[in-house]
Amino acid sequence: MSQKRKKHSFRHADSLIWAGAALCLLAGCSGAPSAMHPRGPAAARIADLSWTFFVMGGAVYVVVMLLTAIALWRRGRQQGAHDASERRMGNRMILVGVALTVVILLVVFGLTLSTQVALSLPAEAEETTIRVIGRQWWWEVQYPTDQVTTANEIVIPVGRPVKIELLAEDVIHSFWVPELHGKLDMIPGETNSFWIEADAPGDYWGLCAEFCGIQHAKMQFLVIAVTPDEYTAWLAQQQQPVRQPADELAARGQEVFTEAFCTRCHTITGTDATGDLGPDLTHLASRRTLGAGALPNNRGNLAGWVVDPQHIKPGNLMPATSISGEDLQALLAYLEGLQ
Ligand code: CUA
Repeated sequence: MSQKRKKHSFRHADSLIWAGAALCLLAGCSGAPSAMHPRGPAAARIADLSWTFFVMGGAVYVVVMLLTAIALWRRGRQQGAHDASERRMGNRMILVGVALTVVILLVVFGLTLSTQVALSLPAEAEETTIRVIGRQWWWEVQYPTDQVTTANEIVIPVGRPVKIELLAEDVIHSFWVPELHGKLDMIPGETNSFWIEADAPGDYWGLCAEFCGIQHAKMQFLVIAVTPDEYTAWLAQQQQPVRQPADELAARGQEVFTEAFCTRCHTITGTDATGDLGPDLTHLASRRTLGAGALPNNRGNLAGWVVDPQHIKPGNLMPATSISGEDLQALLAYLEGLQ
């Protein structure tokens, strides 16, 4: 390749990289859940506060830059030493600057405090309490009054404040649904709580916001806001006893579940499986993701997860399962029946 052509292809590669980077940035802006696009009253308060700070900070920046420019311009025109009146003027300006800074910081402090107080007051119409327990690296979700336990998905009724109690089993995690509320730490031995509310039905991604180990990045969950009727129906469905295996294959799958020692770590209500190291699987098939948002919940991914979870999420507590292909098919049939 000639020198000229080489140069040309480098430039081509450069522009491709830049275009790629720009695309990534743009995609990041549109795809990820953003605290600047609130979908609930608490998040709206936080977003308002952020915008207020942004405007105040922007105004301070503009004024400081203007004053700096004026000072430089005057200095450029001026020759020789300052006289006494100019020095007095300078000192006065410094005092005004300090006073303004104190006033602005006090305003910022007051606004922050009032937002925090508003967010920490108990909601008036609190009806539902949901307990979320952070674990390495997934979320156990309990509805104590309704005796429902699930994982990595929190279904809430839309337009109603829901009390979220946060605990941690192992290390510190942090519960964050950017579109619905700010972050709140989950600390072993402590119970923290706040109220979340969604304005409209929809899916809201949540994530762990405190580094908690090697798979911190793969510790996500979904808040699914539904109409009150759908919420009642969902609770009723989750309260149903486990579905009995629909056919022979699934019945064999249930045996495999015991033989492969899955029962030691997972609970399937109404069966011998009562382990509590991993997620409750009683209604596994009704969930959308596997491995706390790591994969969509479908047959292929479920097979991959069962056979080699360490490949998908290294360091998680679930060991690989070595079973025959036939047993795997039976196990999948059983698990897929857990609606
Ligand atoms: Cu849990 Cu980070």
